[in-house]
Amino acid sequence: MSTQAAPRKKTTVLSLRKKKRNSVPITMMTAYDYPSARSIEDAQLDMILVGDSLGMVVLGYDNTLSVTMDDMIHHCKAVARGAKTPMLVGDMPFMSYQVDVKEAVRNAGRLLAEGNMDAIKLEGGIEMADTVRAIVNVGIPVVGHIGLTPQSVNQLGGFKVQGRKATAAAKLLEDAYAMQDAGCCALVLEAVPDRIARYISDVLDIPTIGIGGGNGCDGQVLVYHDTLGFFDKFTPRFVKQYGQLNTVIAEALNNYKDEVESRAFPAPEHSFTMKDEEWDAFLDLVEPKIEAKDFFGMGANR
Ligand code: KIV
Repeated sequence: MSTQAAPRKKTTVLSLRKKKRNSVPITMMTAYDYPSARSIEDAQLDMILVGDSLGMVVLGYDNTLSVTMDDMIHHCKAVARGAKTPMLVGDMPFMSYQVDVKEAVRNAGRLLAEGNMDAIKLEGGIEMADTVRAIVNVGIPVVGHIGLTPQSVNQLGGFKVQGRKATAAAKLLEDAYAMQDAGCCALVLEAVPDRIARYISDVLDIPTIGIGGGNGCDGQVLVYHDTLGFFDKFTPRFVKQYGQLNTVIAEALNNYKDEVESRAFPAPEHSFTMKDEEWDAFLDLVEPKIEAKDFFGMGANR
C-alpha cells in the first residue's frame, strides 16, 4: 500500500499565531523571482518576503530607496507564480505609504490584487499606526518592521544596530506595542540587541521575525542572496551564509568560457545530427549555386 504525504497547507495568519503559541520557530526568506520562489517552496519554508532589498541585491542600487511600486509588483507576480504554500508578503517601497493613508491603502491593495501577495510589510513604529490600522481595516494583513528600517538609512546615519541604549530600546518596545495594537499580524525586528528582541517577543502576542535580532525571536528571515553567498558587495554581521553561489557561478562561467574557446563545448551530445542522404541532397542543391555565385548577396547578378 502506498502512503502519500498529505499536501502541504498554506501558511496563514492563524498558522503563524499557532506556531508562536506552540513555540515552533517560523521560517521566512526573501525571494524576488520565479526560481528563488520555487526553491523556497520546495524547501517548505513558512513565509516569503518579496523585500524591497531587491533594489540592492537584484537591481544593484546602493540602498532600497529607488524601488518603485511597479518594480515590486513585477517581482511579486513572479514570486507568486513560483510559490503556493508559503505566506507571501510584499514589501511597500519607499514613498508608497508615507505620504498619505489613502494612498497607502491603495498601494497595499495593489500588492495583493496585482502582485498576488497575501500580506504586505511596511517600516515604522508608532508614527505608522494609523496607516497600519487603515490597511488592516480593508482586510489586508500587515507585517510591521522596526529596529533598523533601511528606508530611513539616511536618517539613521547608515545600516546600524538600533536600540542599544536603554531609552532607544524602550522606544522600540513602544513601537512594537503600537504595531500590535494597530493590527499587525507579525513584526520584523531588524538589527536589535538580542535581549531586547527576546523581551519584545516574549511580551507580544503576535509573532516576531528577527533579522539580526538573535535567537529569542519567534522566527527568522534572511535575504536570499546573502544566505546563499550570491551577493558580495557587503555581508551584514547577522548573516550566515549557507551556500557559496558566487563561487559556484564563477567556476561554472570560467569553465564555459574555457570550453567555448577550446572548442570542447559543444560536444557531439549537445549537437543535432542530419542523415547522410539529406546531407548529400543538400550539397547537390547548393554547390552548383555556390559555384555560379547564384545566391542572393553573392554578387553574381550585379
Ligand atoms: O527588504 C527586505 O528584504 C527586508 C528584510 C531585510 C526584512 O525588509
